[in-house]
Formats: sequence, C-alpha cells, structure tokens
Amino acid sequence: DWTPKAMVEELVEQVREQVGDDRALCALSGGVDSSVAAALVQRAIGDQLTCVFVDHGLLREGEAEQVKQDFVDATGVDLVVVDASAQFLGALAGVSDPEEKRKIIGREFIRVFEQAARDIVLDRGDEEHPVKFLVQGTLYPDVVESGGGTGAANIKSHHNVGGLPDDLQFSLIEPLRLLFKDEVRQVGLELGVPEQIVHRQPFPGPGLGIRVVGEVTKERLDVLRAADQIAREELSAAGLDREIWQCPVVLLADVRSVGVQGDGRTYGHPIVLRPVSSEDAMTADWTRLPYDVLARISGRITNEVPEVNRVTLDVTSKPPGTIEWE
Ligand code: XMP
Repeated sequence: DWTPKAMVEELVEQVREQVGDDRALCALSGGVDSSVAAALVQRAIGDQLTCVFVDHGLLREGEAEQVKQDFVDATGVDLVVVDASAQFLGALAGVSDPEEKRKIIGREFIRVFEQAARDIVLDRGDEEHPVKFLVQGTLYPDVVESGGGTGAANIKSHHNVGGLPDDLQFSLIEPLRLLFKDEVRQVGLELGVPEQIVHRQPFPGPGLGIRVVGEVTKERLDVLRAADQIAREELSAAGLDREIWQCPVVLLADVRSVGVQGDGRTYGHPIVLRPVSSEDAMTADWTRLPYDVLARISGRITNEVPEVNRVTLDVTSKPPGTIEWE
C-alpha cells in the first residue's frame, strides 16, 4: 500500500545507500519538486547536503527572496545563493530557438553547480569528501517526456533530464523520478515542507527564458516579469491559485501590433495568458477563468506595462499544445 510515510522511509533509505559518506549538492529552484527533493535528501544525509540556488536572471519577481525566506526558514537547510544572471544572459544572447535555449540554460546550470561544488569543498576544507552527487527534482512525467523512461521520442529536452553535457562531473540523485506531482506533494507534507511551498504552482527550470518567445534579453525579461507579476497578483486576489495548475505568462517578443495607448499610437508586444488545469502536466485543458478576472489582468497589464498593448488568451488544450510555449 502506498502511504507518504512508507514512501519517505523507502526513499530516505535509497538516498543513504547511494550517497554514503560523500557530499551532495541540490539545485534548489524554489519549486515544489526541488524543494521536496532537497528536504528528502536532507532527511537522509543531513549536513552532507548543501543547497545551491542559482539566480539565473530568468526568475519571476520576488522569487529569490521567497526561496530564501520560505524554504530556508522552514527547513534550516544549508543554502548558497549564486548570482549568475550575467553569465546566463551572455550565453543566451542571439539565441531564439527553443531547444537551443533549453540546452544552453541546462549547460550553464551545470557549470555554475560545478563551480559551487568546488567552492564548497574549499570553504569547508574537506578535500576527502568532494561533492559527488547532484540532487534533481525530476518527476516521472519529466522522465517520460524526455524519453528516459520508455524510449519515447524526445519531446522537449527538460534541462533536468536531457541536454546535460558529456563531461558531467556529478552522479545524479533523482529520488522523485517515479512519482507524480500529487505524490510529491504528499511526500513533501510528510517531510514538514510548508504548505505554501508544497502547493506552489509548477515553474519550469529554464524559467522566463522559455516564456520570452524569441531572443532573451534583460529588457524583454523585465517586461515579462512586470506582466507576470500582475497576472499572479490578480489570480491570487481572486482566490484562484489552487484552482489552476499554473498560468504561464508569455511575451511574444518578435511580434508587434498597433495599439492606441494614452495620447497616441503604439507599436507594442502581445502578452499571452496560458491558464491550464491539469492533474500531472502530461495532459491539460485551458482553464475557463472568469471574464472579470481576465479583464482586470488585461487592463492592468496594458496600463502598467507600456511595452505591452495587447493581452491574449491561449485556449488550446494539451495535446496538441504543450503547457509552455517553448
Ligand atoms: P510542457 O510545456 O512540456 O510542460 O507541457 C509540462 C510541465 O513541465 C514544466 N516544464 C519544465 N519543468 N524544466 C522543468 O523543471 C523544464 O525544462 C520544463 N519545461 C516545462 C511546465 O511548466 C509544465 O508544468
């Protein structure tokens, strides 16, 4: 019989066996998956684990602060924050192909972690126990969609499964790789991870980098971040957080349309709202949000974000559309 308690015990045992006396790093993203994976591995190996939070410059407004407060305060996990936004934006310059972006982001992630691993060893003067393991919050749907579980075609290279460089210096610990999202949430609660993290909506590892359709630049990210914050505020205020699975906000950075804002004609960019309902992200339906909520989001974005003069709603299910636009 599947119970969260039994699952935690089994996974903790597996992690202990795999890691032994060595050190592990966890890529903390602030999302449910990596938070639960971190809490689980911490339960298993204690201070042999250090969590690394990479600020890749592709985060939503306030996200880094939230991770520090919510997660660290709750778990007391050892956290290192690395500001690598310049490195990521540099590597992404001139790139607009979605798969290429994902690969670049995945590659830079690993580089940052490898450097963090070396730094942690130096800091602690513990050359005898170098960091050998990298904890990843990979779930079963990620494994399947990356072709790892079944040999299925690679649909998108999720950075936490595919697209890793050949010279990878870590072995992976993926304690959640056979679980679905609802099971991960139960495991998280069993481990004492706070509710607001356990029920946080999914956010992709590559972050806003795959929600700017087109080349990713700091200016475009700032526009998207402002629009995304408004959408999140209004959805929360309407009490819809638990009703929707997630609502990507997407900037069509290479598309322009004519508008009239304030005193004159504008030639701005469209924002796409992509609210979806889902059980496990493998399939999804578009969420029928109340019109008045949509109206408030649209009104505020076009008023408060001058670069955006149109807000559109994505009414596509998955399949045929994926949840993310890239
Ligand atoms: P798609 O777009 O494939 O997304 O329908 C399914 C779910 O996965 C999330 N997603 C990712 N999560 N790394 C992640 O950790 C990724 O590269 C990635 N790509 C998509 C997406 O937000 C949705 O919840």
